[in-house]
Amino acid sequence: MIPEEQLIIAVDGPAGAGKSTIARLVAEKLGILYLDTGAMYRAIGLKALREGIDTRHEADISDMLQKTDLDIQFVNQEQRVFIDCQDVTRDIRTPAVSMAASDVSALPVVRKALVKIQRGIASRQPLILDGRDIGTYVLPDAPFKFFLTASANERAKRRLSDLQARGDQSSSLKEVQMDMEKRDRQDSERAFAPLRQADDAILVDTTNLTIDEVVDVLISKVSGR
Ligand code: DC
Repeated sequence: MIPEEQLIIAVDGPAGAGKSTIARLVAEKLGILYLDTGAMYRAIGLKALREGIDTRHEADISDMLQKTDLDIQFVNQEQRVFIDCQDVTRDIRTPAVSMAASDVSALPVVRKALVKIQRGIASRQPLILDGRDIGTYVLPDAPFKFFLTASANERAKRRLSDLQARGDQSSSLKEVQMDMEKRDRQDSERAFAPLRQADDAILVDTTNLTIDEVVDVLISKVSGR
């Protein structure tokens, strides 16, 4: 439950729509925390890959989850993700981990465990959080909900430049776009809490908007301007 009057901003949308960039800047402007929920699914996906566990096998992932300590900390307002006391914040940003995260995120046992942590964090402080199911499932009572989208080509370009900025020169635009479309399909078609725009979310198509313009849309809605 969200305490009444608490500022909670839910941002959902497909991969590469600009959610994390926008949410981080909005958080900074409003002086609130930003929770990247995708990072949590990524951390579970990473551990499964490292341990050679099939990321689609619910029983094996469930066993692994019981022996896993997932911890989210905010250091100087920046989120850090720990798996079994190891900081994996940087290690979770590879294409292989993206797909593993999408796989494990379709498993109800994983979603239930992570959603519980997300609701706990949201109950304690004002927060902007991004993901796929925040407005529809995690926090359906959130007072502000946005659904960010952009054309598939634009989203792939953004994802590729993110990867390149992290030193990954191995992926092509075509590969990134194919991976992203596969992941979006998987995230939208799963049975439990799929990627979907909440009926009361504001749709923002960011294809032809600058980052500042998108930030302004969110800030003006939240501040009632
Ligand atoms: O936002 P991201 O690309 O880091 O998310 C990685 C995967 O995690 C994404 O493909 C689907 C899953 N995810 C989810 O199912 N629900 C969320 N709230 C956030 C992410």
